[in-house]
Amino acid sequence: MTTATMSTSDLPLPRIGRGKVRDIYAVGDDRVLLLTTDRISAFDVVMAETIPMKGAVLTQISAWWFNQLGGVVPHHMISADADDIIEQVPELAGHRAALAGRAMLCRRTMVFPVECVVRGYLSGSAWKEYAASGTLAGEKLPDGLQESERLEPAIFSPATKAETGHDENITIAQMREVLGEETAYVLESMSRAVYTQGEEIAREQGIIIADTKFEFGRDLDGRIILIDEVMTPDSSRFWAADAYKPGQPQPSFDKQPLRDYLDSERRAGRWNGEAPPPPLPAEVTEATSKRYLEAYRRLTGEELVVT
Ligand SMILES: Nc1ncnc2c1ncn2[C@@H]1O[C@H](COP(=O)(O)OP(=O)(O)O)[C@@H](O)[C@H]1O
Ligand SMILES: [Mg+2]
Repeated sequence: MTTATMSTSDLPLPRIGRGKVRDIYAVGDDRVLLLTTDRISAFDVVMAETIPMKGAVLTQISAWWFNQLGGVVPHHMISADADDIIEQVPELAGHRAALAGRAMLCRRTMVFPVECVVRGYLSGSAWKEYAASGTLAGEKLPDGLQESERLEPAIFSPATKAETGHDENITIAQMREVLGEETAYVLESMSRAVYTQGEEIAREQGIIIADTKFEFGRDLDGRIILIDEVMTPDSSRFWAADAYKPGQPQPSFDKQPLRDYLDSERRAGRWNGEAPPPPLPAEVTEATSKRYLEAYRRLTGEELVVT
C-alpha cells in the first residue's frame, strides 16, 4: 500500500523547525518528532513537486541504520513505527496517515553546530579542490588520484552548519575551537566508526556510500549521541556498486532522473538554474520515486512496505 504524497505536515504539536525536507515538532521537553516530507531539492533548489514515498524511504533507511549500528554508537531513535509513536504520543491519535512510514520519534538534543562529513571516495567539491590544488579541506592528498577513487582511510572533513546558503568547510583545528578538544575528538571517532561499518555493509548490498554527513547532539543526560538522518540518499552520495568506474563522475543512484531532466531544461534555455524550478513531468517524479524505493530495497534486501 502507498500513502498519499506530502509536501508539508500539520500536526497538533509545537513545530520548532522546518528544514528543506523535514518538519520538526517538540514532544514535551525531552523528545522531538521528525516528520520527513516528500519534498526534494536538486542543485540547491527545492522542487515544486513531491516524490511519492521519498519521506518514508528516508525515514526507514535511517531507522534501519540505527538498528544496524546500535552497538557502534548511541543514537536518538525511539521509534519509527506509527502505532508505536501514537501509543507514546496520544495527541497524534487522529493523524496516523500523516505519520505512516515518515515519522520518527527521537530523543531531543542540543545540536552541535558542526556537520561531520566523511568522504570514502573522491567526488563532488572534494574532487574539484583536489584537481585544482592537490588538497582536500586544505590538507595535501597523495598525487595521482582519480575522480571517484576510493580514499583509504576515509577523510573526515567537518563543515559549519550554515543557517542559510552553503555549508562552509572548516579545519579540524577550527572544529576544536568551536566544540572543545574532547567533543571534537568524540565526534570524529564516532563519524569514522559509523561510516566505516556502514560503507562496508552497503557495499556488500550493492550500494557505494561515497560520502556522508552526520550530525550529533548532547541529550538531557549529557551524552553525545548520533541524531538526524543517517546514511540516506539525501545526506550521502549513493552510487550503484555494479556500475562503479573510477576516473569519471558517477551517476547518482537516486536523483539522476531528476538531474538529467533539469540539465536538459537548462540546456534548452528554459531554466536558469535558480528558483523557481521548472515544472516536473510525472515521468520524472515517478522515475525518481522508483530509484528511492530501489535504494531501500538494495540496502535492506526488502521491499519497503508502508501500512
Ligand atoms: N535529536 C534531535 N534533537 C534536536 N534536533 C534534531 C535532532 N535530530 C535532528 N535535529 C535537527 O532537525 C533538523 C532536521 O531538518 P532538515 O529538514 O534535515 O533540516 P536541514 O534543511 O537543515 O537539513 C536539523 O536542523 C537537525 O539538526
Ligand atoms: Mg538535513
